[in-house]
Amino acid sequence: MSSGVSVRPVRPTHVAIIMDGNGRWATANGKPRHAGHRAGVKSARQVVEACAESDVKVLTLFAFSSENWKRPPSEVDALMRLFVEVLQREVDTLHENGIQLRFIGNRESLPTILRKRMADAEARTAANSRMTLVLAVAYGGQWDMVQAMRRISQKVRSGDLDPADIDEALIARHRALAGLPSPDLLIRTGGEQRVSNFLLWDLAYTELCFTDTLWPDFGADQIAHALEFFSQRQRRFGRTGDQLEAVAD
Ligand code: FPP
Repeated sequence: MSSGVSVRPVRPTHVAIIMDGNGRWATANGKPRHAGHRAGVKSARQVVEACAESDVKVLTLFAFSSENWKRPPSEVDALMRLFVEVLQREVDTLHENGIQLRFIGNRESLPTILRKRMADAEARTAANSRMTLVLAVAYGGQWDMVQAMRRISQKVRSGDLDPADIDEALIARHRALAGLPSPDLLIRTGGEQRVSNFLLWDLAYTELCFTDTLWPDFGADQIAHALEFFSQRQRRFGRTGDQLEAVAD
């Protein structure tokens, strides 16, 4: 987690990625969109490996947003089948490499078979501690805040919580990433420079790195560049640059 006083952070503890550009990559290569998503899985695998080797402790990948349900049913269906297949194929390797899997998002909206694979993968890898891989599936930052508010309100209604005790730390404990630090670095591929309802609470102080590279073209070299970009940032957390230089001296 960020100390809040380091002038030049060496490594991000938590990297979050909006993996964008699969469809455009497929079109540019004369392939159907689902081929772009399949190619995207290869990039995800390379990035997971590179992050684990670089001592990143949490990697969060935005695999499917609350808004992605609006895509053509055939594409949504292909994506759900791809997620099931990827979990089936990759969980052993992730487990052998000490990676813990965790999912965030509205699970109730997902197909039963996928929910079962997700629960199995989480149970199987629960004791792993080298790196946590968070897959955001049917996730939206606004949904995340809504589910946190609902759970907090229930505690207030039952008398277990005084509204005066609601503060940033309490909300953080009710967000989907509860127990994990907020991302230090957000990477978005595919050329757009927006957050698209990703981790709205968590991105308050995150460094943002946008690249035109389409997700299927993103791999170990590109993540190395992003980590280098991060190491050049001065993270001030509201302080002045002079204050930070003084702490570092
Ligand atoms: C965006 O490309 C990507 C997605 C909708 C998410 C799907 C991501 C994967 C299948 C890769 C990794 C998968 C896992 C399970 C880790 P887009 O379709 O929005 O591209 P476009 O903007 O070019 O149309």
